[in-house]
Amino acid sequence: MEKNYRPDTLCVQAGYSPKSGEARIPPIVQSTTYAYEKAQDMADLFDLKTDGYFYSRLANPTVAAFEGKVAALERGVCAIGCASGMSATALMVMTVAGAGDNVVSSSAIYGGSYNLFSVTLPKLGIECRFFDPDAPAEEIEKLIDGKTKLIFTETIANPSIVVLDFDKFASISKKYGVLFAVDNTLATPILCRPKDWGANLVVHSSSKYLDGHAAALGGVIVDLGNFDFKNNPRYPSFNQPDESYHGLVYADLPVAFGTKCRAQMIRDFGAIMSPQNGFLSYIGCDTLALRMERHSKNAAKIAEYLAHHPKIEWIKHPSLKDNKYYNLAQKYLPDGQGGMMSFGIKGSVEKCAQFMESLKLITQETHVADVRSCVLHPASTTHRQLSEEDLKAAGVPHNLVRLSVGIENADDLIADLEQALEKV
Ligand SMILES: Cc1ncc(COP(=O)(O)O)c(C=O)c1O
Repeated sequence: MEKNYRPDTLCVQAGYSPKSGEARIPPIVQSTTYAYEKAQDMADLFDLKTDGYFYSRLANPTVAAFEGKVAALERGVCAIGCASGMSATALMVMTVAGAGDNVVSSSAIYGGSYNLFSVTLPKLGIECRFFDPDAPAEEIEKLIDGKTKLIFTETIANPSIVVLDFDKFASISKKYGVLFAVDNTLATPILCRPKDWGANLVVHSSSKYLDGHAAALGGVIVDLGNFDFKNNPRYPSFNQPDESYHGLVYADLPVAFGTKCRAQMIRDFGAIMSPQNGFLSYIGCDTLALRMERHSKNAAKIAEYLAHHPKIEWIKHPSLKDNKYYNLAQKYLPDGQGGMMSFGIKGSVEKCAQFMESLKLITQETHVADVRSCVLHPASTTHRQLSEEDLKAAGVPHNLVRLSVGIENADDLIADLEQALEKV
């Protein structure tokens, strides 16, 4: 696939090119294994000398079509489809960090990722040090030491809608020779390509906009191919032979991170995307560019409406001129700021429930970022395990309602919000 195609063309065409007489869209290869005639052909696959398939826990042709499409969209060198967004984040971190290491992460991230970093990874000996993404660089730098393997951030944070200041993190990453990883779920490569702003790794919950239809759970890790592991003392596991893989030295390979991630993490944890979900996510991405345009337009119109509503205490959407992140959004998300917003309803927390239960078209869901609009009250659901202090750090006040704006008609959505706010 021609590298210079624009994102909307890549959405439709990248990842799969049929040969004469083959299916036009990727077939669902629902097979755990693959047959070979020559023993040497299989041996070459095991030695990573040739590309191909031998067992679907490591790679599968349908999932590969989806991986190819996302890699092209993010301008990466390799993508790895995972069972979920959470497994993608966990495996990405574990590819570089082990017991005794640490990662530094924005505190304004998805609640599940926060839990992974603050509770589960420490049980494996991986410490996580959180920072306020708006803090000055010097403060964030204080958290980095010789054992820091990764800086973790979100382009548009869920649910606090903080827009990432990429330049700040890219310069910290360069200064310390440490990987800069971005969860690009809520922006997608249509609205922002982290590689253009110095990121080295991207992770997605493809269960969200990439699939777009709330049909397929999945995640994807993208190696952007722009980090030099060679001779970097921070990453001995890339520079020393991997005895579990015939003494391979990952830093010597053209695709260092992606190969290590698949050869070690996918092999040992097995959290790969299923062929069925690979297929759904692949065809879901066909319309990603169109959908992101509509999500963004709808959200901007609704944000403007809510900003002037007397029952709304505050509203956060980066399209609004008085939003704290307006200037960053104009720089990093100039073509649209996505469909996610949050707002606070005036009065007690009970008013949030009253409002949400009165909605007729917009449904209450844990999900976000698909074609149908939905709302959620994070403090009593996704973030309920967080303490008062952690909620504050994650930018989630008690009266926050998260609204994921879909691609319905914006005026129908506004009418639904209007009638529900009347009942509060
Ligand atoms: C920004 C972000 N990252 C990661 C995840 C985790 O993804 P999944 O639910 O696919 O495991 C989510 C889920 O909502 C998310 O919003």
